[in-house]
Amino acid sequence: MSQGIRVEDRGAVRRVTFDRPAKKNAITLDMYAVLANAFAEAATREGTSVVLLDAEGDAFTAGNDIGDFMRASAGGQGDRDVGGGARFLQQISVFPKPIVAAVNGLAIGIGSTLLLHCDLVVASTAASFQFPFTRLALVPEAGSSFLLPQRVGLQRASEWLLLGERIDPQTALAAGMINAVVPPDQLASAAQARTDALTRLPLGSLVETKRLMREPIRAALADVMAKELEAFGRRLVSPEAAAAFQAFLAR
Ligand code: COA
Repeated sequence: MSQGIRVEDRGAVRRVTFDRPAKKNAITLDMYAVLANAFAEAATREGTSVVLLDAEGDAFTAGNDIGDFMRASAGGQGDRDVGGGARFLQQISVFPKPIVAAVNGLAIGIGSTLLLHCDLVVASTAASFQFPFTRLALVPEAGSSFLLPQRVGLQRASEWLLLGERIDPQTALAAGMINAVVPPDQLASAAQARTDALTRLPLGSLVETKRLMREPIRAALADVMAKELEAFGRRLVSPEAAAAFQAFLAR
């Protein structure tokens, strides 16, 4: 299976890989569907205890495919078209088992916001993070308007979400957004070491521990995600967003 996402099961690990390197792993509606199914299945699949999320090529992911945004904007059906991403985000936001992410390069938009739902995030020194929503006349998604202030503090989250500038990995580490920064040639082994360590622990205990940490904010997160989706749908069909997508596609 490809369609831009590779899913492999190796022992207790389900590896999910962004695999559209020529387009910086920008995520299409088809890719969201594959991602959503991969996570939904892994949640209940006996024998899977950890998901490893990584990427092919030099980017982690450049975020939502802007061509798809443009089509949604032109069709004036923002709500329906953000639905593809919404199903994946819903899955990952309630995923019961540990998720380890290996961030090799640029993590833009949903590439950064999805990391807020991962349990261990290892980044290469070549990685960077960006929440460029306001630059595209959009709003944050994936619960990031709630999770990011909670994770890194309101002042820093305001800077990151309002200005939408690139964040280097050391800054993300110091802020508490990620767990470790390693040289590029050590990224795969560093992520693998954490994944292996998790697979050696009792799954029941990992699941309960994750649930205990995330349960207190679950209802609030679901509420924020629904409100973000509604605002995102509205912004997506705004003339400012259409102009921003057009500017990217015409560059
Ligand atoms: N959607 C659709 N296509 C994208 C994309 C995206 N989000 N990001 C990159 N691509 C495509 C480019 O159009 C280009 O395609 P082409 O070779 O057919 O022209 C290819 O990926 C390589 O990207 P390019 O821009 O040439 O590489 P770069 O190294 O100069 O820049 C980025 C890489 C990621 C910085 C730049 O592509 C970018 O800013 N992308 C948009 C990121 C974004 O705003 N995402 C939305 C978040 S909500």
